[in-house]
Amino acid sequence: MSPQLATRETPEEEPSVVRAEKGDCVEAVRLIFAPLKQKDGFRHGAIGCPGSGKTHGLRKVVAAALDQEIVDVALTHDVKGADPEWYGYYCRTVAECRAELLARERHAVFRGDVLTDVACDVEGVALKGKEMLQRERLRVLLNVGELKDALTEGGKGWRSPTTLWFSAQARSLRGCFTWTVQQPKRVPDEIWDQSTTIAMHRVLKRSVNYLRNTLELDDEMVAVLPQLARGEFVLYQPEADWNGKVYRWPA
Ligand SMILES: Nc1ncnc2c1ncn2[C@@H]1O[C@H](COP(=O)(O)OP(=O)(O)O)[C@@H](O)[C@H]1O
Ligand SMILES: [Mg+2]
Repeated sequence: MSPQLATRETPEEEPSVVRAEKGDCVEAVRLIFAPLKQKDGFRHGAIGCPGSGKTHGLRKVVAAALDQEIVDVALTHDVKGADPEWYGYYCRTVAECRAELLARERHAVFRGDVLTDVACDVEGVALKGKEMLQRERLRVLLNVGELKDALTEGGKGWRSPTTLWFSAQARSLRGCFTWTVQQPKRVPDEIWDQSTTIAMHRVLKRSVNYLRNTLELDDEMVAVLPQLARGEFVLYQPEADWNGKVYRWPA
C-alpha cells in the first residue's frame, strides 16, 4: 500500500482574521498531556467542520505522544480514504498485525481494504489496544480517526463498547484516547464528561449554539469559533476557563 498521505499537496497558509492572543503549540501539547502528571491517560479530541484541520492537528498530537514517550504504542483506525491519512505500520486488519513489526514501528494504522471489501471495525482495534494495556501493560493510545465509526446512527450511542472503555476507564492503566468529529450534535454525552481537552477548530454558526448550550462555553470563545482559519483552534478544558488563546498547528 502507498505510504503517501491523502493530504500530499503543499498546504497554503490561510490568513487568520481572529483578534485574540496567539498561543504556542508547545504549550497546547503540554496542556493536552497534563493528565499524565496525575498518572492518568489523556483523552483528547478535535471538533470542527470538514477541512478545518482536525486530522492535521491530531497527527501532531499522536507524533508528540510517541516522541515524548507518553505512550509506548499508538493504534490508529483510518479506513476513510483510498489513501491513508496517517503514517505508520499499515495493516488491513488486527489479525494481520504482527507483534514484532508493531514493536518496531510503534504506530499501527488499520486500514481495512475498500478494493477487496476487507472490513476493519473500530471495535477490533480497540479490543487489541485493551488487551495490550491489560496483558502486556503497555501504554497504548487508541486513535479513532473518525469517531462516528465507533458510534450508532445519529451519534448518540456507542457501537464499539471498547472505545467507550478507552474513553471512560483506560486512563488508570495509562491508556490514552484521541478522536475527531465534525458535528458536535453527533457526540455521545460521555465524550463531554470524559475528555480532558478538546481542540475546537472552525465550527459553523449553527453548531456553535449547540456547543454554547451543551458545554456552557465562554461567550468570547463562542464568538471566535466560526472565524477560525484552517489549522487554527482553541483548547477547551472542561476543568478550566478558556485561556483566551488561539493556537495554530505548524504546517
Ligand atoms: N495548520 C495547518 N497548516 C497548514 N495546512 C493545514 C493545517 N491544518 C490543516 N491543513 C491542511 O488543510 C487540509 C485539511 O486538513 P484536515 O486536517 O484533513 O481537515 P479535517 O480533518 O478537519 O477535515 C489538509 O490538506 C491539511 O494538510
Ligand atoms: Mg479529518
